[in-house]
Amino acid sequence: MKHLLSVKDLGAEGINEVCRLADDFTEVLQRPIPKVPTLRGRTVAMLFYEDSTRTRLSFEVAARRLSADVMGFSVSSSSVNKGESVRDTVATISAMGTDVIVVRHRSAGVPHQVTAWTDAGVVNAGDGWHEHPTQALLDCYTIRDRLGTVAGRRIVILGDIKHSRVARSCVLAFTALGAKVTLVAPPTLLPPAPDSWPVDISLDLDEVLGDCDVVYGLRMQAERQFEALLPSLREYTAQWGLTVDRAARLHPGALIMHPGPANRGVEIASEVLDGPNSTTNEQVRHGVAVRMAVLYLMLGADSQPNQREDEA
Ligand code: NCD
Repeated sequence: MKHLLSVKDLGAEGINEVCRLADDFTEVLQRPIPKVPTLRGRTVAMLFYEDSTRTRLSFEVAARRLSADVMGFSVSSSSVNKGESVRDTVATISAMGTDVIVVRHRSAGVPHQVTAWTDAGVVNAGDGWHEHPTQALLDCYTIRDRLGTVAGRRIVILGDIKHSRVARSCVLAFTALGAKVTLVAPPTLLPPAPDSWPVDISLDLDEVLGDCDVVYGLRMQAERQFEALLPSLREYTAQWGLTVDRAARLHPGALIMHPGPANRGVEIASEVLDGPNSTTNEQVRHGVAVRMAVLYLMLGADSQPNQREDEA
């Protein structure tokens, strides 16, 4: 695999392959020295034009656990502030020798554009409202780990779907694996042409709650809302929030997922986020093994995924 820009680059077969490899890397991460020599001599560059905590750290940890070198890049302290274009920045990073560039940008399509400006492989770590494929992969891995399979699961994706690249990638990934997805949101936070998505749509959370295996809550993306789309956050929480009362009406084994960062008390109650059905920390944990699998598929074809450090 040269690039990972969209879940569509993988399809069901590719997602399953990532999950199988992530099993190997999960085993590696449980070793006393959680590291393999697989990508020794390779370089992974982080090009993050938008804020990130977990995605960026997760890619960095994943690259290091594979023994790759990591080139960091922080927009706030770089020549971007002197007006340097994305293209020139990519050329600079590439000239120093990098094998993969992990890109996050507020505009949809930037990772795709970057592929034209470098010989390195490119991973989309979130582009505007468009996609965030590795988030969807780690979510598939988490569901598979907890429930055995994604196929046949009834998954509710709840909240600010309109502005969510996570929702787009998750719909593609969950439906590719055979899950039945229902989007639940106020009409103003649904995507522009939801009928073209392979999903059901409901405006009533309480109607679908008792009948699902997973509720996937999304962050209210205040930074992307330019118009008043909601009467008030309090009314949003009353109708569409994952409150303690609503969580109590789920099946006992149902999962409550959230990509983070969460607005506690807005889209999800603190008690629900920290409760036993919540998989938020597992999602973060699995993210490292899943991103190791992605980097391995891009760069490691000649080596064993789970070779031991002392066998290198
Ligand atoms: C998401 C993102 O940035 O796309 N977070 C993440 O990567 N875990 C979701 C969000 O910001 O709401």
